[in-house]
Amino acid sequence: MDRTAIWRILRNDWTHVLSRSGAQLFCSGGRAAPLCSRVYTVLPPLRDEKEKALLDRMLRVDHAGEYGANRIYAGQMAVLGRTQSGPLIQHMWDQEKKHLQKFSEIMAENRVRPTALLPFWNVTGFLLGASTALLGKEGAMACTVAVEESISEHYNSQIRALMETDPERYKDLLQLIKECRDEEMEHHDTGLEHDAELAPGYWLLKNVIQAGCKAAIYISERI
Ligand SMILES: [Fe+2]
Ligand SMILES: [Fe+2]
Repeated sequence: MDRTAIWRILRNDWTHVLSRSGAQLFCSGGRAAPLCSRVYTVLPPLRDEKEKALLDRMLRVDHAGEYGANRIYAGQMAVLGRTQSGPLIQHMWDQEKKHLQKFSEIMAENRVRPTALLPFWNVTGFLLGASTALLGKEGAMACTVAVEESISEHYNSQIRALMETDPERYKDLLQLIKECRDEEMEHHDTGLEHDAELAPGYWLLKNVIQAGCKAAIYISERI
């Protein structure tokens, strides 16, 4: 892929994500944006800076994960979109678009900035999706299994943390995360049902991708 193509992907996707999320606030010196006048009820009124820092971190990494998942499915569709697997991948991608939109809305409402690494996840996610899809349908499904298992585990750890802190206070956020987690598990199972384990070097591929996911989660919580 040449530099122009990479820039096009970067530019298009920033515009797309920011305009959908209302996060243009972060790029326009905090001027009011239309989406910010909408009311969402997912987060409770925040008590203090400590709670804000905790929830900002959670939302930032969840948004980054959903963003990365969208780019992976975009990469898979670029390679396999016209094959028999196209509609199945498109269905999972459509669900990821809804997850991303929801986290984008909540972040805009709560003035949470996205991770500074979105442009990097943009390219990395797309390349991961496209390169594994080049191994064939099985490669794409192996990537899906690896990524979705990591995201599901990550959501489960957030669910545990919120449940231990105050399940009543965070019930709407818990509901959202559980819904996303359930769909990630569906994607994981779909991958297994569609021959993920027949991909060349399945276990190595899965372990390498999951190590990458862990690193991505660690970094996206902090930057
Ligand atoms: Fe998702
Ligand atoms: Fe998913």
